[in-house]
Amino acid sequence: MSGTILLTGGAGYIGSHTYVALKRAGYEVVILDNFANARDDVPDRLEVITGAPVTLHRADVLDKAAVAEVFRAHKIDAVVHFAAKKAVGESQKIPLEYIETNCTGLVNLLMAMRDAGVFKIVFSSSATVYAETEDWPIPESAPLGYASTYALTKLMGEQIITQAAGSDDRWRHGILRYFNPAGAHDSALIGEDPQDIPNNLMPYIAKVAVGELPELNIFGNDYPTPDGTGVRDYIHVMDLAEGHVKSLDALMAGGDSHIVNLGTGKGYSVMDMLASYSRACGRDLPYKVTPRRAGDLACYYGDPSKARALLGWEVARDLDDMCQTSWNWISRRSNMRAG
Ligand code: WQD
Repeated sequence: MSGTILLTGGAGYIGSHTYVALKRAGYEVVILDNFANARDDVPDRLEVITGAPVTLHRADVLDKAAVAEVFRAHKIDAVVHFAAKKAVGESQKIPLEYIETNCTGLVNLLMAMRDAGVFKIVFSSSATVYAETEDWPIPESAPLGYASTYALTKLMGEQIITQAAGSDDRWRHGILRYFNPAGAHDSALIGEDPQDIPNNLMPYIAKVAVGELPELNIFGNDYPTPDGTGVRDYIHVMDLAEGHVKSLDALMAGGDSHIVNLGTGKGYSVMDMLASYSRACGRDLPYKVTPRRAGDLACYYGDPSKARALLGWEVARDLDDMCQTSWNWISRRSNMRAG
């Protein structure tokens, strides 16, 4: 496909991998990012991976003038929107800032799009918009709800987009609900790079594997799951990125708006991930079992059949690929920092 895409949050973890997938698919891409959760040298590394200069606007989606400038400077055909705050725990501490960035920022973007005559958007939503359930795998028709301000902002984001679409039939959206992104690009030049102690499982294990953290704390092994530890739908970040390209392709080809899960359709436990990461890094990793983490569910994974039917997308990578690419990334980054 061809066209010029505004990629907000394009210097972040999922955004940077989606940048690579969009360029490989033939799109021109303009990144808008405030680098609140991205290292400054990500664009340089994207230039190495893609072999082409990166077009970057260092700005915040809350800055109306800066967002309008992007649409003045470039003929944008569609938007892939990642720029948002995304830590569940943090969202409980600063809910207003999460609503401001994730919802007001989205409204700013949609208004700038409308003013520029741009009506195609792929929106990064989340599986956290599903109400707590024991009916797995979770289909898109499952009841919605939220257990955190982060999840509320994603649910509100979906509804802001569908409300806009209801008022003007020029809007077309791809709302993508994904589960647990993991892994890194094959080049080991980009990957998940949390600035502080990670909340999520894989980046925490990665820091144990590279010696930056002493051991993994397993939050409970008394859940009603095969080995007692939590089960989640981990999806390789490049599968996720390619899912965004498929959604965009469908909109660019004149396809209808859609809401789909991007997941593997199966669950992996904490112990499954630990065993796979041990194979990837070549040694057993230390851990201890601690009490459950408040708010955690036993099991959570999605039904990806609608994405396969509508977009022709399905995952091409498994847990071992996620762990191996994560290990390649973090061991390279750690050696670079040590060097
Ligand atoms: C996974 C499993 C933990 C850390 C995420 C976030 C957010 C959202 C997707 C998109 C659970 C266990 C974890 C650790 C552990 N993203 N664990 N020790 O809980 O699904 O939440 O959902 O919207 O990224 O909300 O992911 O990686 O935090 O936990 O034992 O140090 O690993 O109990 O069973 P989770 P997670």
